[in-house]
Amino acid sequence: MYRLPLLGETENWLSRYISSIEDDREIARHIVLTLLEHVIELHRCGTIPREVACKICRALREIYDKIEELYSRQDLDRYEDFHELLEKHLVDKLGIDVAGWIGLGRSRNDHVVTAHRLKLREVFRDLIIRILELRRALIDRAEQHRDKMFIAFTHGQPAQVTLFSHYLLSIEEMLQTYVNMLLQVLEKVVEKSPLGCGPAVGTTVPIDRYREARDLCFNDICINALYCTESRDYLLITGSILSSLSVELSRVVNDLIRLADPQIGIIVIPEEHCATSSIMPHKRNPATLEIARARLGRVLGEYVSLCSIIRCVGKGYYLDLQEATPHVWNMARIIMNVLEILRDIFSKIRVNDDKVRKLVSELPVTSAETVEQTCLKSGRSFREIYLETARKIREGTACLLPPEDVLALRSSIGSASLRGIDRQISDAISRLEKDYNALRRLEERIVTAVSNVFRACDEVCERLCT
Ligand code: ARG
Repeated sequence: MYRLPLLGETENWLSRYISSIEDDREIARHIVLTLLEHVIELHRCGTIPREVACKICRALREIYDKIEELYSRQDLDRYEDFHELLEKHLVDKLGIDVAGWIGLGRSRNDHVVTAHRLKLREVFRDLIIRILELRRALIDRAEQHRDKMFIAFTHGQPAQVTLFSHYLLSIEEMLQTYVNMLLQVLEKVVEKSPLGCGPAVGTTVPIDRYREARDLCFNDICINALYCTESRDYLLITGSILSSLSVELSRVVNDLIRLADPQIGIIVIPEEHCATSSIMPHKRNPATLEIARARLGRVLGEYVSLCSIIRCVGKGYYLDLQEATPHVWNMARIIMNVLEILRDIFSKIRVNDDKVRKLVSELPVTSAETVEQTCLKSGRSFREIYLETARKIREGTACLLPPEDVLALRSSIGSASLRGIDRQISDAISRLEKDYNALRRLEERIVTAVSNVFRACDEVCERLCT
């Protein structure tokens, strides 16, 4: 285990047990960027000489693109985490009289939370990209299937005649809510800088934390040093959104599996997502959806793990917290995968028109509108007509509205109606466009943060002879 002042020379079995070095691969680049910004700030606030800052910056800049080189060190199992490994690398390369400055005015704790937030911003970007792609596929399919008749179910029973486009747009709108949530959480929770607060309750080094936050394209700082270093609210809040999203996606997956079941059979899952049985050659099992459903269940397990770890920890940093973070990356990975699968399925999904026609002609799926229309035209109360229609359906004498009429007659906003669906499609297109713009701004912040830090790094070295 790397322990000052021995620098990597002590080894004991604990290092293997407590080390986060493998998990830290996820945030290694972000830790380097954080340290770079810290060293630049140490120089700017007048605490370390330019030559020292420049040497450290150059070494870090080199490592940024070659993280794997650090991971190929023979003594990897001696380090508690990537922060220690990085420090040891700098000490080996530059000597302790230079590299030894990096410990000033910081702790691993303010650096690890900064790295988490930088990484989380990228995870949100990757999630949002995939959600938007899925929404685009849903909208495209809705446009192609604008008029296609479909059946809506409640309580698992055929309920009303509808449009397939309307069904698809219901999923699109749910996904839009989650993009909204993610963007809100980014702004209000994730993109706040804890950097520069130092160890548990602060530092005597005159670091300008706002300047650091600006460089990293965070919109503000989190103030209280204890809160900055010990809180994992950004993980819990992200975890709760991803858990909800996994529940929502599970419902979509369940519905697809059910609607494709030959006993209902009104949709056809694309061939490449189906596997056959090794014994029963007639089977077309919705294989990718079944695996997706199971993995979405694992997201909830990851969330329970995350909460279980964090709930035990009092104020201040405990090493337990190190074990919490990977659960969020796991949740995000599973969800991104499912989003990709669903995008592919929805871009190729087909409606079994014969089956829809058959069910619509056999089942009284226009009963609700028949009652409504009779009520509107006759002036008699809804319940009287409802009871009369129910009796006639039981006797087999009901004369129900044809499905085409029902689709033409629906008028309220958000209904499945031939008149209203174009408006719903164009609204979906404009909200998608708006969210793509927000995504572009997010991508810009990610890229700009890196270029700001690199530019500041060049400025530190600029006036020095090489
Ligand atoms: N690897 C640690 C984590 O991820 C970094 C902070 C360690 N701090 C400490 N005081 N041991 O949480």
